[in-house]
Amino acid sequence: MIECKNLSYNYQDFQLNTIEVLKDISFKIDKGEKVLLLGINGSGKSTLLKLLNGLLYAKSGEYYFKNELVNKKYLKANSKDFRKSVSLQMQDPSSMLFNPTVYDEIAFGLKHFGFESVDERVYHYAKVFEIENILKSSPLSLSGGQKQKVLLASLLCVEPEVLLLDEPTAHLDPPTTGWLVEFLDSLDVTALISTHNISLGKELAGRAIVIGINHEIVYDGEVQALLEDMPTLIKAQLVHKHKHAHEGVEHKHYHLHSWT
Ligand SMILES: Nc1ncnc2c1ncn2[C@@H]1O[C@H](COP(=O)(O)OP(=O)(O)O)[C@@H](O)[C@H]1O
Ligand SMILES: [Mg+2]
Repeated sequence: MIECKNLSYNYQDFQLNTIEVLKDISFKIDKGEKVLLLGINGSGKSTLLKLLNGLLYAKSGEYYFKNELVNKKYLKANSKDFRKSVSLQMQDPSSMLFNPTVYDEIAFGLKHFGFESVDERVYHYAKVFEIENILKSSPLSLSGGQKQKVLLASLLCVEPEVLLLDEPTAHLDPPTTGWLVEFLDSLDVTALISTHNISLGKELAGRAIVIGINHEIVYDGEVQALLEDMPTLIKAQLVHKHKHAHEGVEHKHYHLHSWT
């Protein structure tokens, strides 16, 4: 479904130095697979998701979607199909909500892609996401968790084949996080889900790809095996060291759990 071959991305800072953001990234994701994209802040997760969504182009390497090379030419010819097939939830939900009401927000994509029975579909997804009571509200007046739900409803109602989620639990409280994990688990969709919260790993996906602090893939394999692979977790800085006391003796050791 998705294949990246030696993808690299960089940008130039104001002194014209080339700053690497992604280096030599190669992986494949099969249809129906759900994969976690792990890495600390600044490792390049959002940049990779934007590349996969055709919002940025790699500086070198290739990206194939359903065996077709995704480049400017491909996107020019297939923009509407590609946009319907591959949905990106950006890191900040507010930046993606622009309609006057929640109803309009969900209906927007349905109308844009020419779906029939728009009204029925909006109500169906509002029910699934438990947001029927706020359909008349302005999306910008909502809490972080509600915004996230509205955004996911508006992305999923057009039935994308690939869902790219950029830190979907960042604005959610624990019960809503639990709800989202179960919901994603029940969906028959190919998904790449970025997070730096490794404690979500096992529930969200069976496989994890870890981008290290050097912007290269440092791990691609089972989440469970990753959780037991302390050297890799330390290398990618996904665990932290902090001080605490056992029976009055203060010492430092690594912790798997995240702060959120
Ligand atoms: N076009 C750009 N101009 C300036 N900085 C950029 C640009 N693209 C990416 N970056 C920087 O690259 C790094 C990786 O960013 P990002 O993909 O957002 O990482 P993550 O999502 O893992 O936190 C960050 O330090 C970000 O500020
Ligand atoms: Mg990010």
